[in-house]
This record gives sequence, structure tokens and C-alpha cells, in this order.
Amino acid sequence: MLDFLGDLQRTHMCGELRASDADSKVVLMGWVNKRRDLGNLIFLDLRDRSGITQAVITADAGAEVHDRATAVRSEFVVAVIGYTKLREPNTVNKNIPTGEIEVVADELRILNDCKPLPFSPSDTVLANEEVRLKYRYIDLRRPELHRNIELRHQVAIAIRDHLNAQGFYEIETPFMTRSTPEGARDYLVPSRVYPGEFYALPQSPQLFKQILMISGFDKYFQIVRCFRDEDLRADRQPEFTQIDLEISFPRPETVFRVVEGFLKAAFSTIGVELQTPFPQMSYDQAIRLYGIDKPDLRLPAMADVRAAFARENLESLHVDPELPVLAIVIPRVGDLSRKERDELRLLYPARLAQQNIKVLDDTRRLEKSFPQSIPKVRELSGAGTEDYLVIVAAGTVSFGDGNEGQKPPTGGEVGGSYRSGSGAAGNVPSGLSRLSMRERQIFEGAGQVRLALAQKFADRHRLFERKGTGDDYKLLWVTDFPMFEWDETEQRWNAAHHPFTSPHEQDMDKLESDPGAVRALAYDVVLNGTELGSGSIRIHRQDIQAKIFKALGMSPEEQQARFGFFLEALQYGTPPHGGIALGLDRIVMILAGAESLREVIPFPKTAKAVDLMVDAPTPVSERQLKELGIAVVGKKDL
Ligand code: AMO
Repeated sequence: MLDFLGDLQRTHMCGELRASDADSKVVLMGWVNKRRDLGNLIFLDLRDRSGITQAVITADAGAEVHDRATAVRSEFVVAVIGYTKLREPNTVNKNIPTGEIEVVADELRILNDCKPLPFSPSDTVLANEEVRLKYRYIDLRRPELHRNIELRHQVAIAIRDHLNAQGFYEIETPFMTRSTPEGARDYLVPSRVYPGEFYALPQSPQLFKQILMISGFDKYFQIVRCFRDEDLRADRQPEFTQIDLEISFPRPETVFRVVEGFLKAAFSTIGVELQTPFPQMSYDQAIRLYGIDKPDLRLPAMADVRAAFARENLESLHVDPELPVLAIVIPRVGDLSRKERDELRLLYPARLAQQNIKVLDDTRRLEKSFPQSIPKVRELSGAGTEDYLVIVAAGTVSFGDGNEGQKPPTGGEVGGSYRSGSGAAGNVPSGLSRLSMRERQIFEGAGQVRLALAQKFADRHRLFERKGTGDDYKLLWVTDFPMFEWDETEQRWNAAHHPFTSPHEQDMDKLESDPGAVRALAYDVVLNGTELGSGSIRIHRQDIQAKIFKALGMSPEEQQARFGFFLEALQYGTPPHGGIALGLDRIVMILAGAESLREVIPFPKTAKAVDLMVDAPTPVSERQLKELGIAVVGKKDL
């Protein structure tokens, strides 16, 4: 028999009561986390979102209350009316904040029962993820997920408050719109009124926020859902949330200071004080030092140790002495046995061998053959004797030059041109020559080896152990991305960020002659090797926009069809503007120390983009399809 709530009201939450509340009359409501039946004594651990309080049903409560307590099972919803009592010193539970008291029940109401559970939210061993996602409402009762969702709320509020205080307006933009330029596939919504026509769900509010600048709103932000039909990974979901913002008349630094401000506010929710401003690094530097455009600064950078070897030594190793010889240092791993090294090799991308990139990991043998070199390598790379040292270099025995299918038409070079005088953000070392395709291959290959090793040793050697300080979180700005990427299949240039990103003022003259050398005023904010956000200064002039479209090989008809409304809007007094968007889910994932976005999104989708709880997507009725003028011609098994 279930009881009605009637006009009973809670006096406290289950995590609230302390020793100082002893001897008061209380009403608690919540879920039965655990029930222990000792015959004449029954204990119920009562749980709500704030915590757990122990209720005890003694013989004094009378037979009826006792019978009810006997009938109660895990996850029943109950109300306990009773008084608080200090626990005996030997029964105090130091693991919970309410552990010094218990509630002695006078009355127990069973507000709802619960079917036998597929798994219990208080299990310490987790059920498999499919089951947890199907019964997400039970999974969400777990304290970890409660903490994550609460953290998400705190972070969003902190960011909102910060941006509001900086004079930003939160402005909504449409969900039913047309294709946006982020480059993933769109989720489409068919129109009933115009059969055969579709809205697209926004991949981001990019064009709307730019239009808001044209309309004079000056500082916009939105914590907004975006939709992308793309291959999913642990840090990607088909619908996810961006902290999206746009500012009029900014320099990149204007955007940086705003983002640093709200990230500082977000991190303070977990008691971490971030140091600002974040360091800056050009894309080119990031590739040279870390082999990737989202470097994880918690581990040492790579070092070119060519100078440690005599030319003939490199040649005897079949290593090209003209190209970088990169040392990778993984701290505190020490020397590895041959067997261990063999196992590691399985982790390296197969592409390295195809590209004829050598991984020299037996430094002891190298030391025997070239006694002077390895100490010098250690000196140049800063590797201590306890650190694991691997050398990555270009092989000379050629299986093709490794460049097949990757040469852009002009010059075969990529990345920004950093000849002297082009140091835009003030931190680009002048005098760096442009990376050749082959050099870039070596840097990126070594970067992949570095990450594979770091991942492998992360747990065993506590590489990323958190100390609870700002040092656990290495944030940086990566700037000066290349404007274009060469698309081998399509044989044309693509916009590396999106086609509304402004090129560097100094690189405008190369738009036609040398697109590969044009740097964009684009920037990423990176945290511990994860891209948190991406943005740019935009093109606000129609003449420059036209040049970019031309460089992208986009015909006037295509421009018109895709972005006509926007190109028109640009011509009505567009101010210089720029902005950025950060992934809220990714920020919360890192703050929560979670491994997957699914741990911080209340109702996530699987890696196959399925919502297992509501069972979506689903087929729809013939009638609905007919109404929409849609015929399904093929069905793919998921
Ligand atoms: P971008 O496409 O780089 O830029 O996205 C910005 C940030 O959004 C997050 N993000 C995702 N998070 C979870 N799942 C996904 N599938 C996913 N895709 C992106 C990432 C990423 O850094 N309009 C531009 C921004 C701008 O130029 O202002 C944009 O959307 O954290």
C-alpha cells in the first residue's frame, strides 16, 4: 500500500543535518539508498541530491511503522518523520557529513515503490554502459553523475555571470535554419509546408552572430546547443553545447582576455585559480615543438637533436641528416626491456612506416655505437636518466618520398610564412623557414609517437597526476593558423577554419600567388592537449570576402546559393568583428576529471549517435512521411 504525500513538507534535505541539529523534529524525503534489517532495528539510508542521512526504525515506533520499513526496498521513495539524535561515538560515520546524527522515525510513509533494478545507483562496480544509458534515469542517480551535472550548472552560471558583468547580451538564434559553414554534415528537418525542402539544424550560430554585429549588438554571447552529424569520439557528441561569443572592433587579444576571464570564473568553481594571460604559441611553433596544433604542455616539448650526431652516424642509421632528428622525452619512465619496447611499437601509427619515419627507441644500443651522442641528446632535450628517450627521424631508404598525394599546387609548402618581418602576434620567432611537406610529416609523426607514449605511461607513471593547483591545467592560445588546407581528393583549397575568417593583413597579397602561405587571424584555446575552443577575426569587407571565395574556387553561383543572404548583409555597414566558441561539455569534462562527454551530458548519445533511453532515431509512420513528401529508398543497419 502506497501512501499519499498529503500536506507533508520536508524540513531538511538529506545531506543537511549536523550534530548541532540533534533533538529536533524533522521530515526527510528521498530514495532508500540502502536498507539493513537487524530484526527489531531497521536502518534506512535516505538519499536525495544533497546527500544521505541514516534513519532508524526502532521497536518504539510501533508495529505498523516496523511493517512498512520491512516492506521497503532499495530505491523506494519514502518520507521519514522523526527526531534527530546524536549517534553513539562508536557508530559515527566519518565518511558522510551527516554521520554524527541519525533520524529516529516515528512515522514512515512509502510514497512510491520501485521495480527490481537493472543495476543499483549505489553499486561500486559500474554496469555496462549500454544498460546505464538505456536506464539513464537510474544511472543519473549515481553521486558522480549528480556531481558532474551540478558542476555543469555552476560552470554555466559562472560564465554567464561573468559575461553579463562584461556587458555581453545573451541573444538566442534559430535552431531551424539553413546550412552553416562548419564543414560537418547537417541534421535536416523536413518542411511539411514546402515538401522536398528542409531546414538545417545549426552546426553553430556562426552567421547569426556575425549578423548581430552588423545589427550593432556589439557584444553577444549564447550558451547554445549545436548539431553536427560527424564521426563521434569520446570528446564529440552529435548535439553539444557551445559558449559562443562575438565582439565588434576587437583585436585577437580582446577575445583572449574575455575568454581568460570566463575560464578563470569557471575554474574557480572547483577551487582552482588559473594564471592569466595564457601563453601564446603560433601554429608553426606548435608543430615544431609538439608535432600537433593542440599541444599538451604538461609533457616536455620535442627537441631537434641533429647536432648531437655526426652526419655519417646518421647516415649509418639510414637517417636523413638534412631533416629534423627529434628527441621525445617521457618523464620518469626509465629504460624499457626489449619486449616492452616491442609492445610499444604496436601503438605507433602504421602510417609512420609508410612514410619512412624511423623510431629509434634503443638508446642503450645507440649509446654503445655512438658514445658521445646520447649524452649530448640528453643535454639538448633535457632528458634525465630516469626519463624514457625516443628519437624520431626521417629514413633515407625511400619507399617513395612519402609525399604522394599531398602536394599543393604552389610550392609544396604549408603553414604560415614566417620570414622576417611577418611576426604578427609578436611571438613568432623571426627567421624560421617554412616547413616543407616532409619536415611537417616528421614533426607530426613524432608528435603522434609522443602522445602514444604519454597515453601508455600516463597511469603507470602518474604522468598527469593532479595536485589540485592551477599547474594541473596547462592552457594556451595557438595563433596564426594557415588560412587554407589543400584538399587532395577535390584538388582545391579548403578554408582551414571557415571561409569568413580574416587573413592576416600582411598576407593579403599572397591570396592568389601563394595561398598555402597565407596565415589566418584564427586562434584556438587548448587545455592539456584538448581543443577547448576555436575562433577568429572575421572578414568584414565584401572585396576581401570575394577574394577568399575565389581562392577557394567557389563560383559566384555557389557563393550565392550557400551564403547569398550573408554576403548581401555584409554590404550594409559591417563593423570589424571577431569571436570564438568553446565547448562547454569539454570544459566540464576536464573539470570533472571525466573520460567522456557522456559523463557530463545528462542525456547523451552513444558513439553511434543513438539515444538508447528514448530509442531515437526511429522510423516514422507512412502517413508522416507522405505528409512531408518523403519516400525512404534505403535503410542502413546501424
Ligand atoms: P568549432 O567548430 O571549432 O568552431 O567549434 C568550437 C568548439 O566547439 C566544441 N565542439 C564540440 N564539442 C562536442 N562535440 C562536438 N561534436 C563538437 N564540435 C565542436 C569544441 C570546439 O573547440 N563557429 C565556430 C567558432 C567561431 O569561429 O566563433 C565553431 O563552431 O570544443
